[in-house]
Amino acid sequence: MVIFEALEKIQQYLAIKLLNLADDEFISIDLAGQLNQPFKLFINRKHIVCSLQIQNSASASPKSPDESYLPPKATHHPQPLQMKTLKAKGVQWLKGFHLLAVACWVGGAVSLISLYFLKQGGLRDGGVLYGINQGVHQVDMSIVVVPGAVGCLLTGLVYSIFTNWGFFRHTWLTFKWIITVGAIIFGTFYLGPWEVVMMDISGKLGLASLHDPAYLYNQKMNILFGTIQVGMLIVTIFVSILKPWKKKKEH
Ligand code: HEM
Repeated sequence: MVIFEALEKIQQYLAIKLLNLADDEFISIDLAGQLNQPFKLFINRKHIVCSLQIQNSASASPKSPDESYLPPKATHHPQPLQMKTLKAKGVQWLKGFHLLAVACWVGGAVSLISLYFLKQGGLRDGGVLYGINQGVHQVDMSIVVVPGAVGCLLTGLVYSIFTNWGFFRHTWLTFKWIITVGAIIFGTFYLGPWEVVMMDISGKLGLASLHDPAYLYNQKMNILFGTIQVGMLIVTIFVSILKPWKKKKEH
């Protein structure tokens, strides 16, 4: 019976007032009499807010109910831009290309180290030394740099933009971004130029370059930091698989 009275009162208000309300206007319905407790309803065209607190009549004016009872104002926020995500098949293809790029980058970089040892076996022909350095440059440009490093970067970008993995949602992913971008920058500005200098010197000096300080310096830096870079990439492979460290955010 009590509920029936309350509903009847709400119905009266709704019928008369609600249709004429502005979007940001609330009506308040005091149901204390019907429910035998201090109960108020605030209604606008989008929200119904209940209050069990006693209010004085001044703060409960129908046009401006107590702010603490109200839901967030019904303002129209623009929807955040939602990128389309790849479907399951698309993600499988993406992983295929990503791993192909990883294989080129890591495999190619290991090959560069292996070619370095070819020079250590007592060369007797300057042309051979030049040929090895040319081979190193060729493998670097056509396997390591373009399909490998750039491929990893591009497929990583697609992962971050078009799948739910995002850019920095997980620490292991942030790690991968740092390693990938760092390795590409280091390769472009240091490893690559050291390699080109070696090739140029050996083209000019032949076997004598093995005693040339500039050649030896570039070779030392290239093999040292090249090996460190390969080590970092191998760590990245295991980080990708094991996904260590706690997630920053659930996704
Ligand atoms: C911008 C850089 C990169 C981003 C954003 C990225 C992102 C991703 C994502 C989201 C996955 C899918 C993980 C899963 O399905 O479980 C993945 C897989 C993988 N990534 Fe990367 N990656 C990047 C660079 C690299 C690099 C540089 C390497 C190695 C040198 C690498 C190696 C791998 C491996 C081995 C997998 C397969 C993991 C598995 O299936 O368990 N990624 N990568």
